[in-house]
Amino acid sequence: MIVGVVNQKGGAGKTTIALNLAAALAELGRRVMLADADPQQTAQDWAAIRESPPTFQVIGMSKPVLHRDLPKLASNYDHIIIDCAPRNYEVARSAIGAADLVLIPVQPSGADFWASRETVKLVQEIYSFKETQKSVFLVSRRIGRTALGQGINDALAEFALPILKAGTTQRIIYAEALTEGTTVIESQPKGAAAAEIRAIATEIQGIMAA
Ligand SMILES: Nc1ncnc2c1ncn2[C@@H]1O[C@H](COP(=O)(O)OP(=O)(O)O)[C@@H](O)[C@H]1O
Ligand SMILES: [Mg+2]
Repeated sequence: MIVGVVNQKGGAGKTTIALNLAAALAELGRRVMLADADPQQTAQDWAAIRESPPTFQVIGMSKPVLHRDLPKLASNYDHIIIDCAPRNYEVARSAIGAADLVLIPVQPSGADFWASRETVKLVQEIYSFKETQKSVFLVSRRIGRTALGQGINDALAEFALPILKAGTTQRIIYAEALTEGTTVIESQPKGAAAAEIRAIATEIQGIMAA
């Protein structure tokens, strides 16, 4: 299964979700590769500052050749996760073209919601010739039970894409883990953030098995 974590907006939570999801799948004993498609190389920097190697492979692939190269690597892994670059149409297109499942993280704010329109348009364009592909929204950095957090589901209903039940909430541990070269799965395996990420992993595995 190739999962593309895509949103043309920076700060949507792509890298956070990609790294933690990779760790959650690796924890289940799966062979996981993370393709870092962002020329800013955040995931590769994250891997470089670690004390021990990650539980999954991190490989830089920031050229728009993901749709061509990743399927060839797919037999070596159970899951490949693409951490996509923001504001890069060609790479986003290539990542969506490679993906069996496109995960679109959206923060519950107007600016983020409007910016996701472009990404959805791209997904729907590619879907027209790749009908086996699935795509879902993931609400990222939800803040408690605020009206903003509730409203995002209504706002996203405009698009004909499902919304994952699982998502992330705003928690400092996500930012800390990223900065320290770790994941919430490793730093607080029994914590609430780890539970959120495992729920995302379980839900997307269910979608792909359906
Ligand atoms: N659920 C969360 N709670 C708190 N901080 C978060 C959360 N998700 C992401 N962040 C922080 O927000 C910033 C942007 O997230 P990042 O995953 O790098 O987004 P993107 O890859 O889409 O640009 C990072 O500093 C990250 O640590
Ligand atoms: Mg990123």
